[in-house]
Amino acid sequence: MTTERAEEEEEEKDEEQVVTPWDVSAGADGKIDYQKLVKEFGCAEIDERLIERIEKCTNTKAHPFLRRGLFFAHRELDEIVTAYEKGEKFYLYTGRGPSSESLHLGHLVPFQFTKWLQDAFKVPLVIQLTDDEKFLWKDLQLEDCRRLAKENAKDIVACGFNPETTFIFADASYMCPSFYTNMMKIAKCVTFNQAKGIFGFTGDSNIGQIGFPPVQAAPSFPDCFPHMFGMNKKSLKCLIPCAIDQDPYFRMTRDVAHRIGGYKPALVESRFFPALKGESGKMSASDPTSAIYVTDTAKEIKSKINKHAFSGGGATVEEQREKGANLDVDVPWKWLNFFLEDDEKLKEIGEKYGSGEMLTGEIKQILVDVLTPMVEQHQKRRALVTDEVLDLYFNSQKKPKVFLDLFREYEEREFCKWEKKASTSDSDDLCKALEQKLQLEGATENEEGCAIGAPKSEDWLKIRKARMQKDAPTEGSKSALKKAAKIKAAAEKKAAEKAAKAAAKAAKEAAANEAA
Ligand code: TYM
Repeated sequence: MTTERAEEEEEEKDEEQVVTPWDVSAGADGKIDYQKLVKEFGCAEIDERLIERIEKCTNTKAHPFLRRGLFFAHRELDEIVTAYEKGEKFYLYTGRGPSSESLHLGHLVPFQFTKWLQDAFKVPLVIQLTDDEKFLWKDLQLEDCRRLAKENAKDIVACGFNPETTFIFADASYMCPSFYTNMMKIAKCVTFNQAKGIFGFTGDSNIGQIGFPPVQAAPSFPDCFPHMFGMNKKSLKCLIPCAIDQDPYFRMTRDVAHRIGGYKPALVESRFFPALKGESGKMSASDPTSAIYVTDTAKEIKSKINKHAFSGGGATVEEQREKGANLDVDVPWKWLNFFLEDDEKLKEIGEKYGSGEMLTGEIKQILVDVLTPMVEQHQKRRALVTDEVLDLYFNSQKKPKVFLDLFREYEEREFCKWEKKASTSDSDDLCKALEQKLQLEGATENEEGCAIGAPKSEDWLKIRKARMQKDAPTEGSKSALKKAAKIKAAAEKKAAEKAAKAAAKAAKEAAANEAA
């Protein structure tokens, strides 16, 4: 190959878009080609029908991110919805790599959407903070990453997650036997050649990086969290909201899921919230003018937007009036699509700005007016996140019962199934049977081995026992309770028959004795 040709190819390559968990850059035209990504990665696009089904089964209007196609791609989200329509729950899993003191607005996108999913579907959530990942990839000490994980967790909590159903953990502190077991099983299924193909590792990658993907893959399996979901790998399906840059981790996870005995995690994936200076740029902590951070003041927000937001508007007022703005590249317009909730107002702005009736200065002012209160409210909520509040999310001992209650229906159904199989129907003691079931599963032992202070086995059993004894059926669990009641009634009938027989026998004997 001639040097010229090699150089040309190199140039072409440079212009190709790159989307990996660590690098995102636009193609030659300064844009990310999302259709191309969907094809390359092999995921599916979210269509209207799926959104309608989500609205119907949750009885909730779709989040603007969903309605506006910002969360645009998925893997088996339809299957999660189908199962949910039949009454099956799932859990949500998302995360953050703590590499900076605070989050930028792009990071809020998956967390705000996850909060909506959590509320709409009423399901539990786990949030992974990959302090280990950032230690391995960035020029940071592990202690720094741990501190940043805690700082970032405050911003995540400020997004409003329900402490009763949300568990946040940082890898370097949480690692426990059940987590490690999953990691090892996943790691054994992936060769170095496959990892190179998926993640682009080279001979220069440190071996910590090469070994990291199973750490982000493992939380896709519920038995990583025995204090929440028990030790059954198939107890629940998992749905992962994230931007599409995280897809490679979960492509790998889905490839190995069946081999390690779990369900493939489902994904719902977003476009990128563009950098302030345009889609081709990067939001980087080293360039504070490239992004708006959740710590920015009102003054900083205004100044950054006015000075640095890339505009698709005309260069002069006359040109803008004549030609209108190019909405495809205009950052204030794109940002409003993420954060202006009012659909009607957004439509109107698009029409006026696109036609030239509205000027660049005006749309920038609208954006300032939308973002300033949003960021200020975030800051107010964050100020309330004390160490005690954080503890509610990190420490699973505080409210384990609430996690368990979420699965009451599931547990009861499973319990009835098991009880039938174990043919203990002559026992009228449901709690005793349940205890046996837990012991058979080895759940008690495993649970105690967990490092994060999961509830003690006895407490755990007590909690379950109490729950099983509760008379009031929760909505949707009636059929399961009916079954349990049937079993109990059958046992009582049998006992009554036995007693009647015994009484009859005794009466007969007494009569015979008398006759004698
Ligand atoms: P991180 O810290 O790079 O990003 C955190 C989350 O934010 C998303 N994201 C964005 N979304 C929209 N627009 C942007 N400009 C933008 N930049 C980042 C990311 O996709 C991610 O969802 N390795 C991960 C942490 C992680 C994780 C997970 C993420 C661990 N487990 C499970 C998602 C799901 C990371 O470093 O994310």
